[in-house]
Amino acid sequence: MQRTLAIVKPDGVAAGLVGEVVKRIEQEGLRIVGMRMEHMTQTKAEGFYYVHRERPFFGSLMEFMTSGPVVLMALEGDNAIKRWRSLMGATNPENADPGTIRRDMATSIERNVVHGSDAEDTASFEVNYFFTGTELM
Ligand code: RTP
Ligand code: MG
Repeated sequence: MQRTLAIVKPDGVAAGLVGEVVKRIEQEGLRIVGMRMEHMTQTKAEGFYYVHRERPFFGSLMEFMTSGPVVLMALEGDNAIKRWRSLMGATNPENADPGTIRRDMATSIERNVVHGSDAEDTASFEVNYFFTGTELM
């Protein structure tokens, strides 16, 4: 049993894609054990994407991630990290497999609709970054 963090990014929320993303998560059989909206401050976004702070796209990523509200979800299930990443598809929608969220809905490598944790240690950090114990069902 694993937990992972899913985010519908500001582009996904603005485009009305929350329902479609949630539907795919539920159809995959992943359980949503925490869920809420948040409009991230600069500080919150910087702490979340801390590993990317030296990357050339960091400033642009911060502007994007703070541009509007996101939907945060904690997902649970066997192999949840990998299964959620598979539903998402590759970072760049041009490289994402057909039928994935990013291939079907993303508009660029940055505005790619969803986030997913990439390993057990980052999943644990990220779920705890946004959810307290009592917010997880
Ligand atoms: P995420 O962390 O959001 O789930 O995405 P990821 O693992 O697939 O990709 P990652 O390398 O962790 O990059 C984080 C997010 O930064 C933006 N990005 N922009 N302009 C660029 O070249 C570029 N590369 C990455 C994307 O929003 C990406 O999801
Ligand atoms: Mg990542």
